[in-house]
Amino acid sequence: MTTPPRIHDRIELLQGDITQIKADALVTAANAGLRGGGGVDGAIHGAGGPEILEECRRIGGCPTGKAVATTGGKLAARWVIHAVGPIWRGGGQEEAALLASAYRESLNLLVSLGGSSIAFPSISTGVYGYPLEEASVIALDTILRFLRREPRVTHVKMVLFGERTFHAYQRALKSLSE
Ligand code: APR
Repeated sequence: MTTPPRIHDRIELLQGDITQIKADALVTAANAGLRGGGGVDGAIHGAGGPEILEECRRIGGCPTGKAVATTGGKLAARWVIHAVGPIWRGGGQEEAALLASAYRESLNLLVSLGGSSIAFPSISTGVYGYPLEEASVIALDTILRFLRREPRVTHVKMVLFGERTFHAYQRALKSLSE
């Protein structure tokens, strides 16, 4: 009998560009209109090609805290999962619950599609202004809780753009491991 890998061996923090990552699904930080944009969404649509935006138009939109899947287009991924994180409005507008939900819904979608590996960017901490220290703890805590109950997800990569974001996630992972 083989022992299942430890939870912390199924999550990896990387510094870099998510469009260069190979996984069953790459998550993008989308807006509710699924209209594409700048930041990681611009990079994903740019690298994946117009097929992704065409599918987004057919889907029409996605509420905050939820996620939808499209083709991965030209990316090394079967699917792009478009997760809509909250815009930071000071913390009193359910932002924490909506951010956790965006991660959880993406993971649920991966499982329902039959995938086992996924790469996330740091949702909501760019244009949407979510404070990085809080967002990193919510992201990793949500992912770790999910991994504890769902063995079908075997690899989660958090792909962090820039040193500041990478270090914040390193601190968050350490604090959650203690
Ligand atoms: N790979 C990984 N992470 C990236 C990349 C990339 N290629 N490019 C940017 N990022 C990082 C940003 O540095 C930030 O840490 O992704 C994180 C999320 O930032 P945004 O992309 O601005 O996402 P968000 O804050 O959730 O705002 C979403 O921005 O572009 C629009 O369509 C998008 O309207 C939506 C809004």
